[in-house]
Amino acid sequence: MRELTWWQRGVIYQIYPRSFQDSNGDGIGDLRGIAERLEYVSALGADAVWISPIFPSPMADFGYDVADYCGIDPLFGSLSEFEQLVIHAHHLGLKVLLDFVPNHSSNRHPWFEESRSSRDNAKRDWYLWHDPAPDGGPPNNWLSRMGGSAWEWDEHTEQYYYHAFLREQPDLNWRNHEVRRAMDGVLRFWLDRGVDGFRVDVLWLLIKDAQFRDNPLNPCYRAGEPEHHRLLQTYTEDQPEVHEIVRAMRATLDIYGDRVLIGEIYLPVSQLIKYYGAAGDGADMPFNFQLINARWNAAVIAGMIRDYDGALPEHAWPNWVLGNHDNPRIASRVGAIQARVAAVLLLTLRGTPTIYYGDEIGMTDGTIGPDEIRDPAELRQPGAGQGRDPERTPMQWDDSLPNAGFTSGKPWLPVASRSSVREQEGDTSSMLSLYRRLLILRRCHAALVQGTIENVAAHGDVLTYERHYRERSLFVALNFGGEASAFESRPATVLLSTAMGRDGGPLTHGTNALAAGEALVASM
Ligand code: GLC
Repeated sequence: MRELTWWQRGVIYQIYPRSFQDSNGDGIGDLRGIAERLEYVSALGADAVWISPIFPSPMADFGYDVADYCGIDPLFGSLSEFEQLVIHAHHLGLKVLLDFVPNHSSNRHPWFEESRSSRDNAKRDWYLWHDPAPDGGPPNNWLSRMGGSAWEWDEHTEQYYYHAFLREQPDLNWRNHEVRRAMDGVLRFWLDRGVDGFRVDVLWLLIKDAQFRDNPLNPCYRAGEPEHHRLLQTYTEDQPEVHEIVRAMRATLDIYGDRVLIGEIYLPVSQLIKYYGAAGDGADMPFNFQLINARWNAAVIAGMIRDYDGALPEHAWPNWVLGNHDNPRIASRVGAIQARVAAVLLLTLRGTPTIYYGDEIGMTDGTIGPDEIRDPAELRQPGAGQGRDPERTPMQWDDSLPNAGFTSGKPWLPVASRSSVREQEGDTSSMLSLYRRLLILRRCHAALVQGTIENVAAHGDVLTYERHYRERSLFVALNFGGEASAFESRPATVLLSTAMGRDGGPLTHGTNALAAGEALVASM
């Protein structure tokens, strides 16, 4: 087997910068704050931090509306502070990944300001401008993912522009080669500053249908779902031409050596795997979000693991994601006990795991009062289940009141609960201790990192699988149910269990028992 590279062996830790650590009392996290906490991330056992956008931005979508791709928003710090952060992280053995947001810029980006200034401006074609339909309305039926038409009328030049998200986030025209060159320059700018790779925002949306055809109606749409689900995204996502763009990004990263290209892609596995590139010349890791939407059921997850592993091309390296800044937290989706099962699952599956900040202490979604809502997705479609504030609340560092050590000021979102890093650090039964033990286990057992995954099976509420590498074999059993359950095993020694007092104990040949919500890893 080939030597694995750092991003195959490693574990990624996602930092949502507004919420990780505030250093200046303005209630919003910043780069100095992140720097103060890097030792914590390193001691946890992560290998890389992915930092969500920190670039100059009017913050209509909290940084996913970029007004300057090659700078740092003063809210977060400065370019030199960022460079210090990279040095500091590298010193601790941590890689640094940035969020690259190429699909759309801010409407305040100078490129867009030029583009909208006149129809014959040199940058007009950098965005998606279109004449109205014959009735004067939007050019087609495309809907914004934040609600309403995806077309915004521009009074001054009498054309519409396309925005897949907010009207403050006009989509760039990736069919335009100057746009491609400019964006390539952005990648190089950060690579030159030592960045180890990128998570590319909405990679599967970059190219839209050249003929701007109407999207078909979605026959499965159910009332109450977000509005854009009314249509199938036939002409607005996953267009075949996107793959040549991914290849070009990959080629640029390759010039710099061992850098990682990760794509944010919400697609079924059969389409997702195409983003690896036909010859392994695409993304290193198209994010695998299946666990985020999965029904929490042993048979469902067993099927998912088998199908994913079976579908991956030979050159493709798997990955698993349990949570992020766009989805309810795992502890709120499945409850505190099953969140521990989920931790064992995430860190023992084959492939690179991504941990969302705070999940390692079992953070739950915060309760956001009507006056505290900040997320534009919620403000534009109230009650549609799109609100992302609950999973973006401040990291809970200690028990200091009122803001858990996150800020000395008023936090931009309320603190979700009191359980904190400090409280859990000294408690061997805590979620934090479980994460740390699991991450140590990964380092000590090559089978967990390099091993094959085999015999994935579900019996009732229990999911079991094996990891094999050379002569070493590990066995994993997870109880997705609320009652004790039996499972079959070969003789083995428990290395780690979520149930206290079981570590080092035996599994006998034949039938063994798992407590309700217990998960264990054993050496065979
Ligand atoms: C991605 C981001 C999300 C953002 C959207 C638009 O899905 O993760 O937070 O709102 O892109 O940039």
